[in-house]
Amino acid sequence: MPESFERLTLLYDAASIDARVREMAEQINARYAGEPVVVVGVLKGAFIFCADLMRRLTMPLEVDFVRLASYGRSSTSGGEIKFTKDIEMPLAGKHVLIVEDIIDTGLSMDFLCKQLADRQAVSVSIAAFVDKPSRREVPVKADYVGFCIADGFIVGYGLDYAERYRELPGIYELALNSDAAGL
Ligand code: IMP
Ligand code: MG
Repeated sequence: MPESFERLTLLYDAASIDARVREMAEQINARYAGEPVVVVGVLKGAFIFCADLMRRLTMPLEVDFVRLASYGRSSTSGGEIKFTKDIEMPLAGKHVLIVEDIIDTGLSMDFLCKQLADRQAVSVSIAAFVDKPSRREVPVKADYVGFCIADGFIVGYGLDYAERYRELPGIYELALNSDAAGL
């Protein structure tokens, strides 16, 4: 058996991320034109992106968080989605901006958008830090996307592999030795 390894390759450094988050915030500020918005951050992966993005938004904000879990398939994606933590404020009559780390199969965002739309929000939009459109299993389109990537597993800037690497200031592609073995 070869020794196990995890190799990180930098994709986006902190300066590129900061520049992109500013651009996204400009787009979002223009769209809401000063109207109040409820930011719904998706735990845990989006906590850093959510904090950075919010500090660039200029409209009156409220913030709450959800945590989602998927059952029945891999630990990161797919399967049936459930809340393990719901938001704690009413959304009726409000503009909602979901802030998510990555859209992969789309199952999590499909579930969350439908759940929040049922609560009589005026509008529900999605800001996703990363989009992997080629992996979609259900049609979900983010209104604001930081970076589009092809397949590949990424970590850093809030994103984890087995709860590690969230604290890295950049985004890295993660290679595991099982990749080399074709597993
Ligand atoms: P979806 O329901 O398949 O779209 O799941 C998206 C969720 O899977 C994200 O919010 C992440 O928590 C996780 N995920 C998907 N791809 C990655 C990745 O490349 N790195 C870290 N987490 C990922
Ligand atoms: Mg997530």
